[in-house]
Amino acid sequence: MSRKSVHVAVAGATGAVGNQMITCLEESNLPLKSVKLLASKRSVGRQLRFRGDLLPVEEMTPESFKGLDVALFSAGGGTSKQFAPIAADAGCVVVDNSSAWRMDPDVPLVVPEVNPHAIKDYTKKGIIANPNCSTIQMVVALNPIHKHCGIKRIVVSTYQAVSGTGKKAIDELFDQTRAMINFLDYAKQVYPHRIAFNCLPHIDVFQENGYTKEEMKMLNETRKIMEDDSIAVTATTVRVPVFYGHCEAVNIETSRHISAGHVRQLLSSAPGVKVMDDPGNNVYPLATDAAGQDLTLVGRIRQDESIENGINMWIVADNIRKGAATNTVQIAELLVKEYL
Ligand code: A2P
Repeated sequence: MSRKSVHVAVAGATGAVGNQMITCLEESNLPLKSVKLLASKRSVGRQLRFRGDLLPVEEMTPESFKGLDVALFSAGGGTSKQFAPIAADAGCVVVDNSSAWRMDPDVPLVVPEVNPHAIKDYTKKGIIANPNCSTIQMVVALNPIHKHCGIKRIVVSTYQAVSGTGKKAIDELFDQTRAMINFLDYAKQVYPHRIAFNCLPHIDVFQENGYTKEEMKMLNETRKIMEDDSIAVTATTVRVPVFYGHCEAVNIETSRHISAGHVRQLLSSAPGVKVMDDPGNNVYPLATDAAGQDLTLVGRIRQDESIENGINMWIVADNIRKGAATNTVQIAELLVKEYL
């Protein structure tokens, strides 16, 4: 275990997730020697606050990574594909929030509450991948159940906030909502349909099998993180007009019977989970409860009465924090503490 102090960069610092990464770094106990903020050429000249100091935003170039120990990337898949290997060659470990490297067998895909041991494989490529936001909150809640009685199949429907698409999508929901309540025309730029007062069963691009890429990420990433390719997963991912906080209706079939009460008990002591499950008093997790905090909230835990060994539940988390920035910073904390 080392307590080396580190030079850290945030790549994509001006974006929705990058901005939250800065906040999470401010809150973290990482021994920081310096923080560098990187974005595209467009942002040169901007300054962002870090612990009371104004730091300049610099253009990300191949030279940006010299002398850095860790770079937290959230600047899009193409940018990660291009710059992560350059950073790694310069001796800087990349923790990447894009989907570019997640399924690479030489890149660990890590949720610290589930598979922290996988971080050690960062040595293979110098890159660690941060999973998809919807997958992170689902595996945080399901892993303790899988360990206890084996999950055979997961059926999940998501209700995902627009912040998962980035800053432009947050603006689009705001602008469309304002236009509509004022009986004005609205513009569509980010999504193919109006997102205000609507639900879009379409996240990321459609694949040949009729599923979206987001839905396939939930299958492939769940298996990789939970280290069990036998788990069957089927997902329907839906974008809803919510700014922050992804919600998921999750149905699981287990190998051995487990009662709803036992699930509640298991999850009450699970790392990173908070059970909010008192429907008689209208207590169940909401997107508004999740926003701005780091726990994965679970409620509506009940027996699936249509099958022998089934459980239904409702899982909610802040997609920008635990679903992205917090998880990335937690990985960096473990990496620095255990391996650098
Ligand atoms: P910029 O603001 O300069 O465009 P979001 O997902 O919220 O849209 O944010 C994307 C982030 O990725 C922003 O910080 C954006 O910077 C950054 N980014 C996009 N393209 C590049 C690039 N080619 N090089 C560096 N940063 C980039």
